[in-house]
Amino acid sequence: MKAHIDPQRCQGHGRCYTLAPDLFGEDDEGYGTVPGDGVVQPAQVHTARLARSNCPESAIDLSEE
Ligand code: F3S
Repeated sequence: MKAHIDPQRCQGHGRCYTLAPDLFGEDDEGYGTVPGDGVVQPAQVHTARLARSNCPESAIDLSEE
């Protein structure tokens, strides 16, 4: 699974990097980022889905590879 944030949708609510700081980060203006290659390890899937469901802008996409 891979995580992606759509920068067109992200409004910087910050729930992603608060709920899943090991998967998401923030830029200088508080918008969400996906550090590294965005690969979600099996043990992180639950947290990744939690972050996705808590993003008010539906900006987080989790794709199966
Ligand atoms: Fe942006 Fe949603 Fe995170 S609006 S900062 S992707 S919670």
